[in-house]
Amino acid sequence: MDHFTERNGVLFAEDIDLETLAAAVGTPFYCYSTATIERHYRVFAEALAGIDNPLIAYAVKANPNLSVIATLARAGAGADVVSVGELRRAVAAGVPADRIVFSGVGKTEAEMAQALDTGIYQFNVESEEELGVLSRTATALGRTAAVALRVNPGVDALTHAKISTGGHENKFGIPLARIPAAYALAATLPGLRPVGIGAHIGSQLTSLAPLEATFARLGQLAATLRAQGNPVERIDLGGGLGIPYKAGEPAPPTPADYGAMVVRATQGWGVRLLFEPGRMIVGNAGILVARVITVKSGASSRFVVVDAAMNDLLRPTLYNAWHDIRSVRPRSGTMTATVVGPVCESGDTFAEDRALAPLEPGDLVAFMTAGAYGATMASTYNSRPLVPEVLVDGNNYAVVRPRPDLDALIGLDRIAPWLKETG
Ligand code: LLP
Repeated sequence: MDHFTERNGVLFAEDIDLETLAAAVGTPFYCYSTATIERHYRVFAEALAGIDNPLIAYAVKANPNLSVIATLARAGAGADVVSVGELRRAVAAGVPADRIVFSGVGKTEAEMAQALDTGIYQFNVESEEELGVLSRTATALGRTAAVALRVNPGVDALTHAKISTGGHENKFGIPLARIPAAYALAATLPGLRPVGIGAHIGSQLTSLAPLEATFARLGQLAATLRAQGNPVERIDLGGGLGIPYKAGEPAPPTPADYGAMVVRATQGWGVRLLFEPGRMIVGNAGILVARVITVKSGASSRFVVVDAAMNDLLRPTLYNAWHDIRSVRPRSGTMTATVVGPVCESGDTFAEDRALAPLEPGDLVAFMTAGAYGATMASTYNSRPLVPEVLVDGNNYAVVRPRPDLDALIGLDRIAPWLKETG
């Protein structure tokens, strides 16, 4: 469910028509809907209504724009961060420190120190080695770090290999069998307070079964840890809930299905539950709007070349991901075309032989469901400046990240002194 709907033959973002927005901002641009972000947060929170005081820590990596985080902070969300950059964004957007969780497989000492100074709620620690470094860093600062151990449960999340994180072959977490020893170690190290465990097994999950199997393992593990005399106050269930990308495909489990499963799986745990949803909150709340540059014929395909490219929305190139492509002012009829960007790689393809409303140069198209892992994964490849981001709220909009000019992009470089002309 989103707030990008057609009115009188034109696609709108809430109450603003995208032709007007494109004329004001230029293309390509990302457009986010406040109502959709808020709705998804609310739906997720309501799905967890049966749970006492959950912490919903929005996974900032999905969409780190300050205005997006601020919208969620205002709705009551915390933040799951994986770098000092994300930590600084969460704080700048108004997320209280006691709702910030620091995840990630390679936190540096400098990052740990900043997070300790900020007074965050919890570190999700991914190795025994990290426990040692965090202990040293916290002790040096005279602080205590609340630590949850990230468990690698060894489950197949049944999603794309590049976004599976809970298998034995993956770099994430501590193998389940080593958790009791690691927890005991954490309890002996100065500057650490072990508070619990957690898991995040992957993203765009379309089956609840691997999640439920993981939660069952976490429940058993918590019992084992308690039997050893360790307190377990918190369990972090991660993120990962999938969203619909393609009309006609079986819909992934709803937040309500997920919430019911969580209530069932965590019965009697007696802990505070943490959640780290990203895509589920912002995925359908964003689109990438681009303009058709040209329509050309190849030997076997018709190509629609748009002014957005793989550097702006990487998911189709990286994961073969599907994004619906809608005309902003659909013409009647259909055409089949391969939709590509201007970047000099054949991988710069958004869709192959896709049935679309007929397109002509100058037409606007919207790549749907681009609010998560869209702008945040963009690069300046081919010296293309990062795409601007616009947040819509009813009939109001704000450019929440302006388009950088080329002078600023090129000005990031320096000519090495020996290359400068002399004399
Ligand atoms: N927590 C941790 C520790 C994570 O690593 C992630 C995502 C999340 C939470 C949020 O997961 P979500 O609810 O959004 O599924 N770039 C890929 C997705 C990478 C996900 C990385 N980790 C994509 O475009 O599909």
